[in-house]
Amino acid sequence: MTAEPKNSNRVAFDYAYSNTELFGVQEAYKAIRTNIVLSVIKDECKKIVITSSLQAEGKSTTSVNIAISLAQAFNKVLFIDCDLRLSKVHKAFGIARDPGVTNVLSGLATVEESIQATKFENLFVIPAGISAPNPSEMLASLKMQQLISKLESRFDYIIMDTPPINIVSDALPLAKIADGVIVVVRRKISTYTELDKALQSLKFIDAKVLGLILNDANEENTKKYNNSRYGKSSRYY
Ligand SMILES: Nc1ncnc2c1ncn2[C@@H]1O[C@H](COP(=O)(O)OP(=O)(O)O)[C@@H](O)[C@H]1O
Ligand SMILES: [Mg+2]
Repeated sequence: MTAEPKNSNRVAFDYAYSNTELFGVQEAYKAIRTNIVLSVIKDECKKIVITSSLQAEGKSTTSVNIAISLAQAFNKVLFIDCDLRLSKVHKAFGIARDPGVTNVLSGLATVEESIQATKFENLFVIPAGISAPNPSEMLASLKMQQLISKLESRFDYIIMDTPPINIVSDALPLAKIADGVIVVVRRKISTYTELDKALQSLKFIDAKVLGLILNDANEENTKKYNNSRYGKSSRYY
């Protein structure tokens, strides 16, 4: 595995989630949280998959923020980094990449060892784990299903961040067992053709698509809000 360049911190998660002064972001994610709460009606653990058609559309940004927002509403939340290939989310939480999903699935760590606390109350993370040669097989395995079933009794929400579905099939088995799938679309990156392809794949497996989230919305709004008290972060609207 190639070492990451030293200056790659910027990549990692200049995401806004941990910064409580970012009012706009917080408000946007509260609205998304409300929609999730209203869309997935069941008493037991609600399993939500966040995906998109292509890379860099904002899946990880969105899923981390959704997880934080749900935890802030007093839900016990588990975030699972199911992007076993290009996982970066552990950096956002300031935790190690392993032990994580791949360690548990391959018997190298226990579930307990893989669940890591975060600085957010009620929010726990299972990072991706060590690099594995067969991420698709791992996520589609019976062991993965068993892992999720085991965790369900302990959390109100399980949020799964996944790779892009038009590039690799990793997210599909998770989308199939989830109570809801959220598809992220990003201005200037997503295209109708790719989005349509992604939605077709989800339809094919009978996944329950809760809706789309438009990330990095319109430039006019960006300028407007950048100059307002809501600050730069309102791009997330
Ligand atoms: N709304 C946004 N405004 C600015 N930067 C963003 C926004 N959404 C995502 N990014 C940045 O784009 C990059 C890719 O986002 P990420 O969430 O990792 O996408 P994905 O998980 O879909 O590959 C990251 O560096 C992230 O900080
Ligand atoms: Mg990602």
